[in-house]
Amino acid sequence: MTDDTRPARSAPGAGPLLRLVVLFGGVSAEHDVSCVTAAHVVAAADRSKYDIVPVGITRDGGWFRQDKAIAALADDVELPNALLPEGTEVDPIVILRGDSSKQTVVLPLLHGPHGEDGTVQGMLELLKLPYVGSGVLGSAVCMDKAMAKDVAAYRGIPQCRWIEFRDGVDDSREIVGKVEAQLGLPVFVKPANMGSSVGITKAHNIKELDDAINLALRYDDVLVIEESVTAREIEVAVLGNALPEVSLPGEIRPGSEFYDYEDKYVTGAAQLVIPADLSAADTDAVRELAVRAYTAMRCSGLARVDFFFEESRLDGEPARGWLLNEINTIPGFTPASMYPKMWGASGLSYPDLIDQLVALALETYQRRSGFSTAH
Ligand SMILES: Nc1ncnc2c1ncn2[C@@H]1O[C@H](COP(=O)(O)OP(=O)(O)O)[C@@H](O)[C@H]1O
Ligand SMILES: [Mg+2]
Repeated sequence: MTDDTRPARSAPGAGPLLRLVVLFGGVSAEHDVSCVTAAHVVAAADRSKYDIVPVGITRDGGWFRQDKAIAALADDVELPNALLPEGTEVDPIVILRGDSSKQTVVLPLLHGPHGEDGTVQGMLELLKLPYVGSGVLGSAVCMDKAMAKDVAAYRGIPQCRWIEFRDGVDDSREIVGKVEAQLGLPVFVKPANMGSSVGITKAHNIKELDDAINLALRYDDVLVIEESVTAREIEVAVLGNALPEVSLPGEIRPGSEFYDYEDKYVTGAAQLVIPADLSAADTDAVRELAVRAYTAMRCSGLARVDFFFEESRLDGEPARGWLLNEINTIPGFTPASMYPKMWGASGLSYPDLIDQLVALALETYQRRSGFSTAH
C-alpha cells in the first residue's frame, strides 16, 4: 500500500475524521492479553486522525466505555499498562454505531473464541461497519484448527500429520490405536477452537494421551491430535487484502518444552529472533507459502502465519522443510509482540501499522458495499 491510501489528518481545528472503536477484553481465556494490547494501541493511534473510543468487554460479556482512558487521552496523560473493562456500561449496538456524524471503524483486539472466530465480525457485518481484520469466514476457518488443516490440505500447503477427533462421533477406544499407527508418540492434543496454548498438551505416553484428550474436551468437542515435530518455529506477518505484503520472518525459541501459555505470557522466557536466521531461498519460500495460506483461508487485513521449519530428522527420513502450524487472524499486538516487531524490522512503525490496518478495513468495506445484491 502507498502512503496516500492512509487515513488523512483532518484540517487544523476540525477534529479527527474517523471514529476508531477499539474493542478489548472479551470472554475468552486471552482476556488479559487483550487488555494490555488495547492500552498500547490506544496510546499509539494518531489522535489527529482518530477519535478513539476504547470499549472493554468483561469476562461475563458486559460492555463498558473506558471513560478514564478517553479522559487521559484528552488530557495527554500516560495510560496504564493495561486497560480494564470498566467505565460507563453501554449498549453494544449503540456504542458501535456512534452518532453517524463521523465514519466509524472498529478495531477488534479480541483474541480467541467470541472475538477472533467470526462471531464479532458477524455482528459488525450486520451493523454495516468497517472493521480491521478478516471477515466472518476467514476468522472462523483460522480459529478452527481442524477446519484450517482441511483447507490447507486441500490447497496442498504442507503441514504435520494429524488426526481429527470429534467427541460423540469418533470412537474414543480406537483413538489410541490410530495415534500409534499414524502418528507415533509423543503427540500434541489441541482443542480445535482455542488459542494461546490453552487446553494444549504434549502427550508422551498413552496415559498422558488420555488425560490430554479429557483436558482438551473441556474447551471444544472437536480436537486435533498432531505428530510432534522437531523443528524451528518461524512466523511471518502478513498485511493487506487481495495482494498482501509479507514481513521478514521471525523465530520463536520457546523457553520450555513447547511455547505454552506460561512461556507466552507469564515467564516470558521465550526468545524472539527477528529477522530469523534463514537463507534467502528459505525466506522467500516461507513468505510465499504464508501468502498462499493467507489467501486460501480467506484472510484479509492482517494475520500472523506460523510455521514449523523441519531441517533434519532423527529417524533418517528426509526433512520436510516448511510445515504450516496455524494462522492467527488477531495476533498478539503489543509493541513487544511478534507481529508488530516483524513489521518494525521490515520498516513499518507501530503507529503506521495501525493506519494501514484502518485503511485496509475501509478498503474492504467500500469494495464489499459495492457488490450488487439484486439478481
Ligand atoms: N505438532 C507440533 N509439534 C511440535 N510442537 C508443537 C506442535 N504443535 C504445537 N506445538 C507447540 O505448541 C505451541 C502452541 O501450539 P499452537 O498450535 O500454536 O497453539 P495456539 O493456537 O494456542 O498458539 C506451538 O507454538 C509449539 O511450541
Ligand atoms: Mg500458536
